Amino acid sequence: MKTKRPLVIFIIGVSGVGKSTIGNLLSKQLSIPFFDGDDFHPKKNKTKMATGQPLNDEDRYEWLIRLNNLAKENLQYNSCIIASSALKESYRIILKKDIETNVKWILLNGSFVQVLDRINKRKNHFMPTSLLNSQFESLEVPLEALQIDITNSPKKIVTIIEDELLKKSEFGIIGLGVMGKSLSRNFASKGFVISIYNRHAKGLEENVALSFKKEFSELSNSMPFDKLQDFVNSLQQPRKIMLMVNAGETVDIVIEQLVHYLSENDTVIDGGNSHYNDTQRRVNFLKKKNIHFIGAGISGGEEGALKGPSIMPGGNEKAYKIVQPYLEVIAAKDDKGNPCCNYIGKNGSGHFIKIIHNGIEYVEMQLLAEVYQILRTIDNNPEQIANILSSWKSEVDSYLLEITIDILKKKEGEKWLIDEILDKAGNKGTGNWATITTTELGIPSTMIGSALFARYLSSFKEERIALKNNLINNIKKKSNVNIEDLLKAYQLARLINHHQGFKLIFEASKSNSWELNLSEIARIWTNGCIIRSPLMNELSETFKETDNIFFSKKMIAQIKKLRPSLNNIVSQSILNQIPIPSLSEAVNFLNGYSEANSSANLIQAQRDYFGAHTYQRINDPTGEYYHTNWKSKSYD
Ligand code: 6PG
Repeated sequence: MKTKRPLVIFIIGVSGVGKSTIGNLLSKQLSIPFFDGDDFHPKKNKTKMATGQPLNDEDRYEWLIRLNNLAKENLQYNSCIIASSALKESYRIILKKDIETNVKWILLNGSFVQVLDRINKRKNHFMPTSLLNSQFESLEVPLEALQIDITNSPKKIVTIIEDELLKKSEFGIIGLGVMGKSLSRNFASKGFVISIYNRHAKGLEENVALSFKKEFSELSNSMPFDKLQDFVNSLQQPRKIMLMVNAGETVDIVIEQLVHYLSENDTVIDGGNSHYNDTQRRVNFLKKKNIHFIGAGISGGEEGALKGPSIMPGGNEKAYKIVQPYLEVIAAKDDKGNPCCNYIGKNGSGHFIKIIHNGIEYVEMQLLAEVYQILRTIDNNPEQIANILSSWKSEVDSYLLEITIDILKKKEGEKWLIDEILDKAGNKGTGNWATITTTELGIPSTMIGSALFARYLSSFKEERIALKNNLINNIKKKSNVNIEDLLKAYQLARLINHHQGFKLIFEASKSNSWELNLSEIARIWTNGCIIRSPLMNELSETFKETDNIFFSKKMIAQIKKLRPSLNNIVSQSILNQIPIPSLSEAVNFLNGYSEANSSANLIQAQRDYFGAHTYQRINDPTGEYYHTNWKSKSYD
């Protein structure tokens, strides 16, 4: 076997397709044991079948559990082959329980007439042919199975299986940039046999896959390519291929090249930061060719990709099942050991979620930057700030807090490295998409915009320098910032940021009928991703009770407790002219969201005045729209 891990090869199909014949032959060829599932039926099942009655699901349950146990026992020592009809998905779920990554399905396919003819020729078979019809009706074709036509000779069928399992790899990765390389090593270290591909660009990218394979011992079993067709042909069917190429046009170009070599029922996963509308378009394009497309957000950066990222796959749920064992094995694990990967929802929802993840990430980063700036203003050096932030860990720990502490401690000779870095923030566009999304959906997730615009503002360095000189003022940037207040302000701003992010997801889910599960999304984000933090664990529980954290009693108590500190820090910072766009946006959002009587009545009146846009009246519960002639006599 090419895989380093033992496998259970389930040979499945309706009665009469030749499962035992193939199982026996394959067993000899591969020198691994074969078990005929029929031998493991409880006696009562055999009796029932012999009298011509079909088994019901209850009858089958005990039998399937026996086969699952048989598979598990054998896996402790070696690979094995088990023949079992396993016609329904629910049966296969029992058969593969706890051993998903070790299971390979081979479906023997034949026409009704062909199979009936075979059965009629058999002697002493306990399955009456009358049951065949119901077998064909029950067959739910497993998308993840290698399907082989029984018109092939048994010898040929065994050769096909052998070629697939011995010569081909299980999973393919296209694009060996930083993330593609780390994910490849992650897959390989979990015992998967993978094919890796990187394009050949003369003088620029040559033999990338081969050199990469040579560099890391865990890749010794993997197959490197720089020719796409060879790469595709090296994969077991149905093929599972992950694209780790630059988001945007490159994804389309690669899909167009790839599609020529793919077969029906293959699955392509886009693991990049693609826009969810592009993902939807690609899902539709490939669907016409019966190829599945999964848009999977992947978070965790280089280290996460290597050791366990958070994965957010969206698209066709049945197609997800094909790649589920692979993605869930390489994903990070939550505090209960469950994978930080789960099916998110239909269409482009996986990539949508990743965009919002990045929106929350932008704000989390910006809030830390604002805290840093406030602390710098009151004469703390980077190391002192790192110490303050370290002392906050019991209250507001997060991956981003931890890396910020590390960053602030980093020195180059006598100098703090942070002081040597040009203060112009870059971005790759996902924060922009998150901001556009929130405005398109009409949801006030305002902090995302504030963090994005803070990055944009930072890029006008030359103008900032000029204006600092032109707008000299006498403000002495010293304030009585109370560190405890700053911690509380930061804590509340984070809560509001998370509220806004999840609110955006909730509303998008409603308007797209995605039926997203907020608690599960928060759970997937408890480990592996950039915004992981104990707060996310708390939110995963909170979202089991409510869709809006502002209506959780526990959160309301926290907000009330923290609010004066946030007000205080924002006021002090503004008086001292310290830019704090995200902290102040948190205050403004909170003030607006908790104000029963807003000033929007005046906006409505203004709209009606100049554009006859009409308005509704408080005392008219019918929701009727009114228009006033604002220049009428009473005004004159
Ligand atoms: C992650 C990150 C990752 C990356 C983005 C954001 O979840 O692992 O979000 O996807 O950091 O490219 O980058 P920008 O800050 O450059 O927009």
